[in-house]
Amino acid sequence: MDRYEQVTELARRRGFMWPAFELYGGAAGFYDYGPLGAQLKRRIEDAWRGFFVIREGFAEIEAPTIGIEDIFKASGHLSGFSDPLTECKECKEIYRADHLIKHIIEVPDALSDEEIYQVFQDNDIFCPECGGDLSTVYEFNLMFKTAIGPGNKHAGYLRPETAQGMFINYPRLLRYFRGALPFGAVQIGKSYRNEISPRQGVIRLREFTQAEAEVFIDPRDKTHPRFDEVKDIVMRLYSQAGQERGEVEEMTVGEAVEKGIIAHQTLAYYVARTYQFLQAVGVARDRLRFRQHKADEMAHYAADCWDAEVLLDRLGWIELVGVADRTDYDLKSHMALSQARLTVFVNYDQPVRREKLVIKPDMKSLGPRFKGQAKAIAEALKSLDMKELKGEGPIAVQVDGETVEVERELVSFEMVEEEIRGEELVPHVIEPSFGIDRILYTVLEHSYYEEMVEEEPRIVLRLLPRMTPVDVAVLPLMDRPELTAPAREILEALRSAGYLTDYDTSGSIGRRYRRNDEIGTPYCVTVDYETIEQGTVTIRDRDSMRQVKVKKEDLLGTVSGLLCCTQRFEDAGVAVSP
Ligand code: GLY
Repeated sequence: MDRYEQVTELARRRGFMWPAFELYGGAAGFYDYGPLGAQLKRRIEDAWRGFFVIREGFAEIEAPTIGIEDIFKASGHLSGFSDPLTECKECKEIYRADHLIKHIIEVPDALSDEEIYQVFQDNDIFCPECGGDLSTVYEFNLMFKTAIGPGNKHAGYLRPETAQGMFINYPRLLRYFRGALPFGAVQIGKSYRNEISPRQGVIRLREFTQAEAEVFIDPRDKTHPRFDEVKDIVMRLYSQAGQERGEVEEMTVGEAVEKGIIAHQTLAYYVARTYQFLQAVGVARDRLRFRQHKADEMAHYAADCWDAEVLLDRLGWIELVGVADRTDYDLKSHMALSQARLTVFVNYDQPVRREKLVIKPDMKSLGPRFKGQAKAIAEALKSLDMKELKGEGPIAVQVDGETVEVERELVSFEMVEEEIRGEELVPHVIEPSFGIDRILYTVLEHSYYEEMVEEEPRIVLRLLPRMTPVDVAVLPLMDRPELTAPAREILEALRSAGYLTDYDTSGSIGRRYRRNDEIGTPYCVTVDYETIEQGTVTIRDRDSMRQVKVKKEDLLGTVSGLLCCTQRFEDAGVAVSP
């Protein structure tokens, strides 16, 4: 068994993740979260909220997961969110066409459908299953399509990203943030992609959870006011140039911006926060890097993008997060299709003074002369420039497709000085986009340890405290009323204090410790006869397997100290007997 199999076997057996629809044979690309998985996922999402909602001050919204067609017309997903397919003419198996030439072409995404088909022909590529001829290559849109209401009049699509919910709510969000940039809005929720043949288990899902932040910024200034907080963080960067050379570079965030490796402070700031978040939930630092997208693999909306990639045992380097500069692509596209004004008025630091031509048509004369056309003629006159006003003879203007001549003396003009305080701009958007399911799997794999203890294998999930599905397990030494009664009292006290608990009386105490090690429970509290006689309980630490006795009344305080900051008794000030 490789690590992927070990982790997925444990996840299935202990109730983290189950293949969906198992009762009916299952379907690739869908997973259920069991009791432990759902809890772990919630904790990862809450940690994300801690970083991006609480600490960044962004606003969390919740939009429908079904979108109407116009959204995806504007976003480009209707025309551009597709993968190239080919079909075996003999056995009818369908393949991702670009995957069949990965061993020949380094970046097959950059090729057109015709070019991919040419590579098939030049390199004798046939059906991997039966050796049959492959069809020409065609595009398959990855969005799930549905109908809104009966009939087919109104097409709907399951959203392929949560991001569009923030873009189409931009005018309301701008008002919510009192009309000023920068501001951020986020969503954590399901997205859907009808992947062609998802073979990577929980890594490539057709229904998955995204946590996305859209940060609306002033396009003229991409510095970040809190950049100093992250500039000294050292990260492993695999830039476009680095990929050409095959070299991952280790450097500070500040250095990366100074050298132009990361384009600007705001992009770098969110790359750094992503780095901190991933480690805070349990991704291993030494298996984490940031890779810049190559120009020809960039999503249709992105000008620059850095992926947080992690090293997984079977799957190699896998993307968990994309931090993209989406520029004004989305807002401009929605503005063009909806005709809504998706801009913001930004004040200049200093008002600018400039001369302006003011044209004044003589309405008293234009009215009687041109009657019903007078207003339109006046408007046409106001749009003239200085050259046209200064000529000789009558002025010709176009009104309702007709040329009308107006005597020059019916129009006066002057230059006036005006003060300009600012201008209307379309904001740019920086987007950190997280795949929660992939992060959850990575946290499991990076926390998974197998070791020998007294010649017995022990599996332990070294999840970080407060990231575990269970904070404390309460274990009466034996299933006897004199022990279960005080154990249940302790359980209730822990639950009332807000801890996630487990209560287990089945099997030997050693087996129960092992079961809790496997699901990552950081502390087990054992209730034994000393609890009755001396009022003490035993706390066992998952990682070191050391045990300490504490007074029953000190248990809550001790657990709180242990869980908030540390996994070592000494660091939490707990006395350990030698
Ligand atoms: N919003 C980025 C993505 O869905 O990939």
